Amino acid sequence: MTFLSSTQAVPDTLSVPRHIAIIMDGNGRWATKRFLPRVAGHAQGVEAVRKIVEASTTRGVEYLTIFAFSSENWRRPADEVTLLMRLFMTALEREVAKMHANNIRLKIVGDLTRFDKKLQEMIAQAERKTANNKGLTLTICANYGGRWDIMQAVNKMLALHPGATTFSEDELAPHLSMAYAPEPDLFIRTGGEERISNFLLWQLAYTELFFTQTYWPDFDAKALDAAIESYQQRERRFGRTSAQLAAQVS
Ligand code: IPE
Ligand code: IPE
Ligand code: MG
Repeated sequence: MTFLSSTQAVPDTLSVPRHIAIIMDGNGRWATKRFLPRVAGHAQGVEAVRKIVEASTTRGVEYLTIFAFSSENWRRPADEVTLLMRLFMTALEREVAKMHANNIRLKIVGDLTRFDKKLQEMIAQAERKTANNKGLTLTICANYGGRWDIMQAVNKMLALHPGATTFSEDELAPHLSMAYAPEPDLFIRTGGEERISNFLLWQLAYTELFFTQTYWPDFDAKALDAAIESYQQRERRFGRTSAQLAAQVS
Protein backbone atom coordinates (compact mmCIF):
# COMPACT_ATOMS: atom_id res chain seq x y z
CA MET A 1 0.00 0.00 0.00
CA THR A 2 1.21 3.51 -0.70
CA PHE A 3 0.04 6.49 1.29
CA LEU A 4 -1.30 9.72 -0.10
CA SER A 5 0.92 12.60 0.89
CA SER A 6 0.07 13.40 4.50
CA THR A 7 -0.23 17.04 3.51
CA GLN A 8 -3.65 16.19 2.01
CA ALA A 9 -5.46 15.53 5.27
CA VAL A 10 -4.85 17.27 8.59
CA PRO A 11 -4.04 14.72 11.32
CA ASP A 12 -5.29 15.22 14.86
CA THR A 13 -2.26 16.50 16.77
CA LEU A 14 -3.90 15.62 20.08
CA SER A 15 -3.17 12.00 19.40
CA VAL A 16 0.24 10.35 19.43
CA PRO A 17 2.13 10.96 16.17
CA ARG A 18 1.70 8.02 13.83
CA HIS A 19 5.21 8.35 12.43
CA ILE A 20 8.24 9.72 14.27
CA ALA A 21 11.55 10.22 12.45
CA ILE A 22 14.73 10.80 14.46
CA ILE A 23 18.23 12.05 13.72
CA MET A 24 20.15 10.43 16.54
CA ASP A 25 22.96 12.92 17.02
CA GLY A 26 25.49 13.62 19.76
CA ASN A 27 26.98 10.17 20.42
CA GLY A 28 30.53 11.43 19.90
CA ARG A 29 30.12 14.45 22.16
CA TRP A 30 28.44 12.31 24.82
CA ALA A 31 31.56 10.12 24.89
CA THR A 32 34.10 12.97 24.67
CA LYS A 33 32.47 14.67 27.66
CA ARG A 34 33.21 11.51 29.63
CA PHE A 35 36.80 11.18 28.29
CA LEU A 36 35.72 8.05 26.44
CA PRO A 37 36.42 7.12 22.80
CA ARG A 38 33.66 8.19 20.37
CA VAL A 39 32.75 4.57 19.74
CA ALA A 40 31.64 4.26 23.39
CA GLY A 41 29.05 6.90 22.57
CA HIS A 42 27.84 4.88 19.59
CA ALA A 43 27.57 1.75 21.76
CA GLN A 44 25.54 3.70 24.31
CA GLY A 45 23.48 5.04 21.41
CA VAL A 46 22.38 1.49 20.58
CA GLU A 47 21.01 1.18 24.14
CA ALA A 48 19.05 4.38 23.62
CA VAL A 49 17.58 2.94 20.41
CA ARG A 50 16.40 -0.12 22.32
CA LYS A 51 14.65 2.07 24.91
CA ILE A 52 13.04 4.38 22.38
CA VAL A 53 11.76 1.45 20.30
CA GLU A 54 10.12 0.06 23.41
CA ALA A 55 8.70 3.43 24.48
CA SER A 56 7.36 4.08 20.97
CA THR A 57 5.61 0.72 20.95
CA THR A 58 3.92 1.29 24.31
CA ARG A 59 2.80 4.77 23.26
CA GLY A 60 1.14 3.45 20.12
CA VAL A 61 3.49 4.98 17.55
CA GLU A 62 3.04 3.02 14.32
CA TYR A 63 6.23 4.00 12.48
CA LEU A 64 9.59 4.87 13.97
CA THR A 65 12.36 5.87 11.58
CA ILE A 66 15.91 6.42 12.74
CA PHE A 67 18.92 7.82 10.91
CA ALA A 68 21.82 5.50 11.69
CA PHE A 69 24.36 6.34 8.99
CA SER A 70 24.17 9.07 6.37
CA SER A 71 25.59 8.96 2.86
CA GLU A 72 27.99 11.67 4.12
CA ASN A 73 29.19 9.68 7.15
CA TRP A 74 31.70 7.79 4.92
CA ARG A 75 33.77 10.97 5.25
CA ARG A 76 34.55 10.07 8.88
CA PRO A 77 37.87 8.46 9.84
CA ALA A 78 38.03 4.90 8.47
CA ASP A 79 38.30 3.31 11.91
CA GLU A 80 35.12 5.04 13.12
CA VAL A 81 33.26 3.89 9.98
CA THR A 82 34.47 0.31 10.51
CA LEU A 83 33.40 0.37 14.14
CA LEU A 84 29.99 1.76 13.24
CA MET A 85 29.47 -1.06 10.71
CA ARG A 86 30.53 -3.64 13.29
CA LEU A 87 28.11 -2.17 15.84
CA PHE A 88 25.32 -2.27 13.29
CA MET A 89 26.01 -5.96 12.54
CA THR A 90 26.20 -6.90 16.23
CA ALA A 91 22.99 -5.02 16.97
CA LEU A 92 21.21 -6.86 14.13
CA GLU A 93 22.55 -10.21 15.35
CA ARG A 94 21.44 -9.55 18.92
CA GLU A 95 18.15 -7.75 18.41
CA VAL A 96 16.31 -9.23 15.43
CA ALA A 97 14.91 -12.26 17.30
CA LYS A 98 13.68 -9.99 20.10
CA MET A 99 12.14 -7.56 17.63
CA HIS A 100 10.39 -10.43 15.91
CA ALA A 101 9.03 -11.66 19.25
CA ASN A 102 7.73 -8.12 19.86
CA ASN A 103 5.89 -8.11 16.53
CA ILE A 104 8.17 -5.39 15.08
CA ARG A 105 8.52 -5.09 11.31
CA LEU A 106 12.06 -4.09 10.48
CA LYS A 107 13.03 -2.15 7.36
CA ILE A 108 16.46 -0.91 6.38
CA VAL A 109 16.52 1.78 3.72
CA GLY A 110 19.39 3.50 1.94
CA ASP A 111 21.92 2.58 -0.72
CA LEU A 112 22.81 -0.82 0.70
CA THR A 113 25.06 -1.76 -2.23
CA ARG A 114 28.03 -0.10 -0.50
CA PHE A 115 27.83 -2.42 2.51
CA ASP A 116 29.75 -5.66 2.56
CA LYS A 117 27.97 -8.77 1.32
CA LYS A 118 27.58 -10.32 4.76
CA LEU A 119 25.84 -7.22 6.13
CA GLN A 120 23.59 -7.03 3.06
CA GLU A 121 22.58 -10.64 3.59
CA MET A 122 21.86 -10.06 7.30
CA ILE A 123 19.69 -7.09 6.40
CA ALA A 124 17.71 -9.06 3.82
CA GLN A 125 17.21 -11.91 6.30
CA ALA A 126 16.05 -9.59 9.09
CA GLU A 127 13.56 -7.92 6.77
CA ARG A 128 12.25 -11.25 5.51
CA LYS A 129 11.85 -12.66 9.00
CA THR A 130 9.86 -9.68 10.30
CA ALA A 131 7.99 -8.78 7.08
CA ASN A 132 4.55 -9.94 8.24
CA ASN A 133 4.68 -8.44 11.73
CA LYS A 134 1.86 -6.05 12.50
CA GLY A 135 3.30 -4.03 15.40
CA LEU A 136 5.67 -1.06 15.14
CA THR A 137 7.41 -0.59 11.79
CA LEU A 138 11.00 0.30 12.64
CA THR A 139 12.96 1.76 9.74
CA ILE A 140 16.71 2.16 10.00
CA CYS A 141 18.17 4.57 7.46
CA ALA A 142 21.66 3.33 6.62
CA ASN A 143 23.85 4.91 3.94
CA TYR A 144 20.76 6.99 3.38
CA GLY A 145 20.55 10.44 1.83
CA GLY A 146 17.40 12.36 0.98
CA ARG A 147 18.81 13.38 -2.39
CA TRP A 148 19.81 9.79 -3.15
CA ASP A 149 16.25 8.73 -2.32
CA ILE A 150 14.66 11.25 -4.68
CA MET A 151 17.11 10.39 -7.48
CA GLN A 152 16.65 6.64 -7.17
CA ALA A 153 12.88 7.21 -7.32
CA VAL A 154 13.24 9.38 -10.43
CA ASN A 155 15.39 6.73 -12.09
CA LYS A 156 12.91 3.95 -11.29
CA MET A 157 10.08 6.07 -12.65
CA LEU A 158 11.99 6.81 -15.85
CA ALA A 159 12.79 3.13 -16.35
CA LEU A 160 9.11 2.31 -15.95
CA HIS A 161 7.93 4.92 -18.45
CA PRO A 162 10.58 5.14 -21.18
CA GLY A 163 9.94 8.10 -23.46
CA ALA A 164 7.71 9.99 -21.02
CA THR A 165 8.85 13.55 -20.42
CA THR A 166 6.73 14.86 -17.53
CA PHE A 167 5.69 13.28 -14.26
CA SER A 168 3.50 14.22 -11.31
CA GLU A 169 4.32 14.00 -7.59
CA ASP A 170 1.88 11.11 -7.30
CA GLU A 171 3.83 9.16 -9.91
CA LEU A 172 7.14 9.75 -8.16
CA ALA A 173 6.12 9.16 -4.53
CA PRO A 174 5.47 5.39 -4.81
CA HIS A 175 9.13 4.89 -5.81
CA LEU A 176 10.57 6.62 -2.75
CA SER A 177 12.25 4.18 -0.41
CA MET A 178 9.67 4.71 2.36
CA ALA A 179 6.55 4.53 0.23
CA TYR A 180 5.22 1.90 2.65
CA ALA A 181 4.86 4.53 5.40
CA PRO A 182 2.89 7.75 5.80
CA GLU A 183 5.07 10.86 5.90
CA PRO A 184 6.53 11.61 9.35
CA ASP A 185 4.33 13.65 11.70
CA LEU A 186 7.15 14.47 14.10
CA PHE A 187 10.87 14.88 13.43
CA ILE A 188 13.26 14.86 16.36
CA ARG A 189 16.95 15.80 16.24
CA THR A 190 19.01 15.33 19.37
CA GLY A 191 22.47 16.82 19.99
CA GLY A 192 21.67 20.50 19.52
CA GLU A 193 22.26 20.98 15.77
CA GLU A 194 19.29 22.44 13.95
CA ARG A 195 19.58 20.98 10.46
CA ILE A 196 18.17 18.18 8.33
CA SER A 197 21.56 16.78 7.18
CA ASN A 198 20.12 15.22 4.01
CA PHE A 199 17.61 13.07 5.91
CA LEU A 200 14.12 12.49 4.46
CA LEU A 201 13.98 15.60 2.26
CA TRP A 202 10.81 14.80 0.35
CA GLN A 203 8.91 13.25 3.22
CA LEU A 204 9.62 16.02 5.76
CA ALA A 205 7.88 18.70 3.69
CA TYR A 206 5.21 19.32 6.36
CA THR A 207 6.58 17.44 9.36
CA GLU A 208 6.63 19.19 12.76
CA LEU A 209 10.26 19.72 13.80
CA PHE A 210 11.61 19.27 17.32
CA PHE A 211 15.21 19.97 18.30
CA THR A 212 16.76 19.16 21.65
CA GLN A 213 20.20 19.71 23.18
CA THR A 214 20.10 16.24 24.77
CA TYR A 215 22.74 13.91 23.36
CA TRP A 216 21.28 10.78 21.80
CA PRO A 217 22.61 8.32 24.46
CA ASP A 218 20.74 10.36 27.10
CA PHE A 219 17.48 10.48 25.14
CA ASP A 220 14.98 8.36 27.08
CA ALA A 221 11.24 7.73 27.33
CA LYS A 222 10.78 10.98 29.29
CA ALA A 223 12.54 12.94 26.57
CA LEU A 224 10.37 11.24 23.96
CA ASP A 225 7.28 12.27 25.90
CA ALA A 226 8.49 15.88 25.96
CA ALA A 227 8.83 15.82 22.16
CA ILE A 228 5.35 14.29 21.78
CA GLU A 229 3.92 16.92 24.14
CA SER A 230 5.47 19.65 22.05
CA TYR A 231 3.92 18.06 18.95
CA GLN A 232 0.53 17.97 20.61
CA GLN A 233 0.62 21.74 21.03
CA ARG A 234 1.17 22.41 17.34
CA GLU A 235 -1.49 23.34 14.86
CA ARG A 236 -0.91 21.64 11.52
CA ARG A 237 -2.44 23.71 8.79
CA PHE A 238 -0.83 22.51 5.55
CA GLY A 239 -1.35 25.92 4.00
CA ARG A 240 -4.84 26.53 5.37
CA THR A 241 -5.82 29.15 7.98
CA SER A 242 -6.63 28.55 11.65
CA ALA A 243 -10.22 29.64 11.01
CA GLN A 244 -10.63 27.03 8.28
CA LEU A 245 -9.45 24.31 10.65
CA ALA A 246 -11.80 25.47 13.40
CA ALA A 247 -14.69 25.38 10.94
CA GLN A 248 -13.82 21.79 9.98
CA VAL A 249 -13.92 20.62 13.58
CA SER A 250 -17.19 22.29 14.61
C1 IPE B 1 25.40 10.44 15.68
O1 IPE B 1 26.33 10.89 16.59
C2 IPE B 1 25.70 9.04 15.19
C3 IPE B 1 26.14 8.95 13.79
C4 IPE B 1 26.22 9.94 12.95
C5 IPE B 1 26.51 7.64 13.33
P1 IPE B 1 27.66 11.61 16.13
O2 IPE B 1 28.72 10.58 15.95
O3 IPE B 1 27.42 12.49 14.97
O4 IPE B 1 27.99 12.46 17.41
P2 IPE B 1 28.59 13.94 17.46
O5 IPE B 1 27.69 14.81 16.64
O6 IPE B 1 29.98 13.87 16.91
O7 IPE B 1 28.55 14.29 18.91
C1 IPE C 1 23.46 12.98 10.91
O1 IPE C 1 24.39 13.14 11.91
C2 IPE C 1 23.41 11.56 10.46
C3 IPE C 1 23.07 10.58 11.48
C4 IPE C 1 22.60 10.78 12.68
C5 IPE C 1 23.25 9.22 11.06
P1 IPE C 1 25.77 13.88 11.66
O2 IPE C 1 26.31 14.19 13.00
O3 IPE C 1 26.63 13.09 10.75
O4 IPE C 1 25.29 15.21 10.92
P2 IPE C 1 26.09 16.46 10.37
O5 IPE C 1 26.88 15.98 9.20
O6 IPE C 1 26.96 16.94 11.50
O7 IPE C 1 25.06 17.44 10.01
MG1 MG D 1 26.90 14.47 14.79
